[in-house]
Amino acid sequence: MDLDQLAALRTPEGSAALAAAERVAGGDPLAAAAALRSAGIPGGLAAAALTQAELRRRAAGKFGAAAAGMFLTRAGLEQATRRAVADRRAARLRAAGVTTLADLGCGLGADALAAARAGIRVYAVEADPVTAAMAAANAEAAGLADLVTVERGDATAFDATGVDAVFCDPARRRAGTGRRVFDPNAYSPPWDFVTGLAARVPRTVVKVAPGLDHALIPAGAEAEWVSVDGDLVEAALWCGELAEVPRRATLLREKEGPLLNASGSKRVLSYHLTGTGAQEAPVGPVRRFLYDPDPAVVRAHLVAELAADLDATLADPSIAYLYADEARPTPFARCLEITDVLPFSLKRLRALLRERRVGRVEIRKRGSALEPEKLRRDLRLSGDEAAGLALTRVAGDPTVLVCRPVPPGG
Ligand SMILES: C[S@@+](CC[C@H](N)C(=O)[O-])C[C@H]1O[C@@H](n2cnc3c(N)ncnc32)[C@H](O)[C@@H]1O
Repeated sequence: MDLDQLAALRTPEGSAALAAAERVAGGDPLAAAAALRSAGIPGGLAAAALTQAELRRRAAGKFGAAAAGMFLTRAGLEQATRRAVADRRAARLRAAGVTTLADLGCGLGADALAAARAGIRVYAVEADPVTAAMAAANAEAAGLADLVTVERGDATAFDATGVDAVFCDPARRRAGTGRRVFDPNAYSPPWDFVTGLAARVPRTVVKVAPGLDHALIPAGAEAEWVSVDGDLVEAALWCGELAEVPRRATLLREKEGPLLNASGSKRVLSYHLTGTGAQEAPVGPVRRFLYDPDPAVVRAHLVAELAADLDATLADPSIAYLYADEARPTPFARCLEITDVLPFSLKRLRALLRERRVGRVEIRKRGSALEPEKLRRDLRLSGDEAAGLALTRVAGDPTVLVCRPVPPGG
């Protein structure tokens, strides 16, 4: 997609081509192209419209119904923040008193639009000309053009004085190849610029990869890990006056939220666990209940704080499974009741599951090199019953915990 193709898609003919493409997208691409040709749509416009229609379908998982009016690139969509996460970040900024925000490297504008929806005036800058034009078009399509200004340019030269706060979500993919980069020094804008921002601007938020090394967290910053429906999606550094605690795990639930209206939109539930990230949970024996903490809790190094809430202990100081005598309702971990503790032996496990007529197992693991799918095949299960298996180590020994789920609510 180039700037001319984007401009063509935004004409009345382009809108008609997009509408036609949306009716045929998702099926056979050759048949879709033929349908647009036979409707008299020129080849170049038809191809651009079909690409957008495909990307919009894919984007619905991240942006919901708003995806239908957005302009997207494949790379921009992959890197964009999902709506629930961007909205929550924007609400926190607004609650901290932020009314003007610079978004340095705004991509397609997912975070900028969320900030504008929260009532924040956004000054966005983006290096890639097509992406910048799309971000501006997306603000217009969302009815937010008066709150979002997008400039094509280099974030490192952007004058961010005069705004209440700065947000930066550096590109973590190599331009051209699209391959992920894991070394923060290869981020764009570069890591030293990003961390320098935190030193220069009193209120800075930086989105980073969830695998971020704790040693790279700037002194005094709050590091937050975010999961959505149990999947770890990102980390963010809240710097300067925005830092509230050293570490935070934020769990968002998109699937479980109560329905808000007849069209089926859901309220996103959110849960926060906070702490220093430096505490160590006590170690003890395997007990009646196993808690498997959410990945945001584990990555935020908040397992000790969760252990204190649950009156739980670890069985191995290096493995984040918690054990307790009581099943307490918590959004921060899955709770299972342990029925059997076996030193790992395929033969013994198979015999036990046969005896119990277990035909289905949900396998989780921490601290075990076993491959769950291979184990499932090797177990050759048959029967009508279900069980949970946790593969782990206890006092250094490979161990399997046979479990049954505890219904939410204990
Ligand atoms: C991860 S994406 C931002 C995604 C955005 N937060 C969203 O949710 O839609 C990072 C963007 O920064 C842009 N970028 C990288 N280096 C830049 C620079 N020096 N100046 C301006 N933009 C830059 C990239 O082109 C890319 O679009």
